[in-house]
Amino acid sequence: MAAKRQMLVTSALIYANGTPHLGHLVGYIQADIWVRLQKMLGADCVYICGSDSHGTPIMIQAEKMGITPTALIEEMHREQLRDFTDFYVEFDNYYSTHSPENRELVELIFKRHLDAGNITKRTIKQLFDPEKNMFLPDRYIKGECPNCGSKDQYGDNCEVCGATYLPTDLKNPYSTLTGAKPIEKESEHYFFKLQNHENFLKDWTRRGHLQEQVSNKLDEWFKDGLKEWDISRDAPYFGFTIPGEKDKYFYVWLDAPIGYMASFKNLCERRKDLDFDTYWKSESPVELYHFIGKDIIYFHALFWPAILHGANFRTPTAIFVNGFLTVNGQKMSKSRGTFLKARTYLDHLNPEYLRYYFAAKLSDRIEDLDINFEDFMQRVNSDLVGKFINIASRCASFINKIFAGTLANQLAEPELYQQFAQAGSEIAERYHQLEYSQAIRQIMALADRANQYIDEQKPWVLAKDPARKTEVQAVCSMGINLFRVLMIYLKPVLPHTAKQVESFLNIPPLQWHDKDTPLLGHAICDFKPLIQRIDPKQIEAMKMSSQQDMEKKITALETPMSAKEKEEKMELISIEDFSKVDLRIAKILEAESVEGADKLLRLKVSLGPDETRQIFAGIKSAYQPEELIGRHVVVVANLQPRKMRFGISEGMVLAAGPGGKDLWVVSPDPGAESGMKVK
Ligand code: MSP
Ligand code: ZN
Repeated sequence: MAAKRQMLVTSALIYANGTPHLGHLVGYIQADIWVRLQKMLGADCVYICGSDSHGTPIMIQAEKMGITPTALIEEMHREQLRDFTDFYVEFDNYYSTHSPENRELVELIFKRHLDAGNITKRTIKQLFDPEKNMFLPDRYIKGECPNCGSKDQYGDNCEVCGATYLPTDLKNPYSTLTGAKPIEKESEHYFFKLQNHENFLKDWTRRGHLQEQVSNKLDEWFKDGLKEWDISRDAPYFGFTIPGEKDKYFYVWLDAPIGYMASFKNLCERRKDLDFDTYWKSESPVELYHFIGKDIIYFHALFWPAILHGANFRTPTAIFVNGFLTVNGQKMSKSRGTFLKARTYLDHLNPEYLRYYFAAKLSDRIEDLDINFEDFMQRVNSDLVGKFINIASRCASFINKIFAGTLANQLAEPELYQQFAQAGSEIAERYHQLEYSQAIRQIMALADRANQYIDEQKPWVLAKDPARKTEVQAVCSMGINLFRVLMIYLKPVLPHTAKQVESFLNIPPLQWHDKDTPLLGHAICDFKPLIQRIDPKQIEAMKMSSQQDMEKKITALETPMSAKEKEEKMELISIEDFSKVDLRIAKILEAESVEGADKLLRLKVSLGPDETRQIFAGIKSAYQPEELIGRHVVVVANLQPRKMRFGISEGMVLAAGPGGKDLWVVSPDPGAESGMKVK
């Protein structure tokens, strides 16, 4: 038997201060599908990941939350793993860069470079926050753009005019942590001499390890010239101290990719069949693949191979880069409510919908991938459920009911089956080449063919004729066998459905080569519905929760802010502000449609024994006027009266919901009477 193909696959290590969102998931789902394919093809494929736990933002955030960085990264590690697991992203190990294995490897690699003369030390000037007593990374410095004078621009580029500059060029700079004016201060730093590896890199980057678009990008960087890379940071910092130094740390981006090695090393403890050196020694026979997003190419395609090569470790076989996720064609945005957290999605929708949607859109190009919820619903409902799942539901009940779950002993259409089985090598190749959308298109074309077969044979007609019973079994068994082949092809994308189908078909976990042997004379189990159609309400509800999440403005968790900034951002109101709003219970006395206004109802409400008001409320699409009469609601009683086309509106009725049909008036528990103040 040929030796098993050995592969090690990694996904970018997500920062330990970021909650996973749908953008992150593009790359993780892409890699997970690839790994599952390799495993089904029989490769010995190991998939590792972990959280990127070091750096200033993590330190600052922990401080704000009043916990230690270690407590923060542990909690985030759990949360991230839970989210990934719920999306069926299945790592062989999910570790952390803040680990003993990583410290040891970082020190080893640093020493090897030091000995090889690849590291130099020199003194540089940097901006320093005198109040906080720390050097400021660029993202914590703001000021006026030296080019156009716009205020509140970040330390490296202006969002208004696009100019790029050094933080020291900013006019009237301030620290976003304290508001203090930064001073310039000297400090000694360690630099990695990337330029020492220029020849190696120029060669490596053109040897088929990278997508063409990435190689082109690298050519630009080579043209600009490779520069020394600052790999140290001063205290206070959350990271690993540099050996022989007291207050100096390794920069997070040095120890982050080494975290791939550490996560693998940690796995070796548990899996004795894996040997660290075999996987990482220079000239290792194992294939090594890194899946990353487009914003971190420089670190992975330049620094990382140089770091590995110069320290006498193996270099990657390939780096696969994914584009960014956009929502309705635009960057995810908190204010538009399109910044979707992984967890918010999971609260409302099946994770396999998203896996399928991403697969249906991904290619090997580094293009941004757009999620449009109309399109999302359409593809899931009409392709995944309408075409694929439908094959099983059309055939299973006949087999279950008429034939006690037993499949025919022979294939009704061996040639058709062959066509399906033969497509497998091309589909596997397309997945392997990261052309997922092409693979899915081919699978869906086969699903159309299977449905066409059933349409032609009409088992539901045959079933009415007792003399044609065996034909029903033959046709439905054929349908189920075609469905099973398609399930094999979709298993990398739909691992959970595959599990359910394996128990429905009463078979061990499907492997790729199972496509060649149909299930004959085999007893299957009762069919249970597999994937449900998406109801548009689920999407609406998800958007709503996302909006609400953002309205809670947990921004403190995402961007570092000064106390003053925080106050402004949260737009907090005082208790006095709140008490200005006169909220009162009102009883609806009359309710009627308003001619010429399709959204409005005219209400007459009572606010106690001798006060009635007229209010025009936009709740017509949610309520029949009759059902409102006699109900108690909450109104804003001191709103300035508003003159409308139909009359004067003298208040506002509180209601919750996204609008349209989904709107509910806020009502008090029984006992509350009209006129009572709400507080
Ligand atoms: N910690 C670094 C990676 C270190 S790897 C040694 C990092 N973390 S991240 O949390 O910012 O991003 C994690 C991954 O998600 C990266 O591959 C990044 O490119 C990717 N994405 C982040 N936002 C994304 C989108 N909006 N869309 C697609 N991918 C996105 O970078
Ligand atoms: Zn500017």
